[in-house]
Amino acid sequence: MKFDSPDAVEILPAGEEHLESLASLAVVIWRQYYPSIISWAQIDYMLAGMYAPETLRADLAHREIRFFRLLVAGRFVGFASLGPASAAQVMKLHKLYLLPEFHGRGLGRRLLQYCEAEACRLGARRLLLCVNKRNLRALQVYQQSGFIIAESITVNIGGGFVMDDFLMTKDLPTVGDPTLRCL
Ligand SMILES: CC(C)(COP(=O)(O)OP(=O)(O)OC[C@H]1O[C@@H](n2cnc3c(N)ncnc32)[C@H](O)[C@@H]1OP(=O)(O)O)[C@@H](O)C(=O)NCCC(=O)NCCS
Repeated sequence: MKFDSPDAVEILPAGEEHLESLASLAVVIWRQYYPSIISWAQIDYMLAGMYAPETLRADLAHREIRFFRLLVAGRFVGFASLGPASAAQVMKLHKLYLLPEFHGRGLGRRLLQYCEAEACRLGARRLLLCVNKRNLRALQVYQQSGFIIAESITVNIGGGFVMDDFLMTKDLPTVGDPTLRCL
């Protein structure tokens, strides 16, 4: 089932008051989705690091990272985050997560398009992201949305774990370009 009714789906900014529920949602999504991709130990390690309250608060307050919530009929079912990258006019998509029961209905693409439009609005000309090489579903979604694999990267994240990712990039249209689809 696709959610064609504009009333059913909302994408809203997440502020500090939403970070706790966002972290709880991340735990549910990661524990359902990632066991086929990374080990349980790595899931717990990464959740504890990336979604700790102080990490999320610092993302928001000091790293200029914006968070967005995706709601379906008022229920918080997914989120994304976006922030500046080291180069000028480049932004990084840090997170894009939906509850598995909502996958495959066009919602991930909508949230991604929303983030692309936000990045354009903020002056970015390129968006980059990292995705686990074994996350074939996400890789397909990104490729179908125009991202290309730029590099293979392996990052030591401590605790004996590595992130074995592809760095993907997409050149963004400028604001006013009709190919830039905004919600
Ligand atoms: C990645 C994710 C956000 C995609 O969201 P989604 O709602 O499932 O994807 P959509 O339904 O919007 O699909 C977007 C496109 O990808 C395609 N697609 C979706 N799942 C696919 C799959 N398993 N295989 C091939 N193509 C797929 C769809 O067909 C669609 O293309 P279309 O519009 O031309 O039909 C979602 O699956 C998710 O949250 N995954 C878990 C977390 C994750 O991996 N996040 C990314 C971290 S880098």
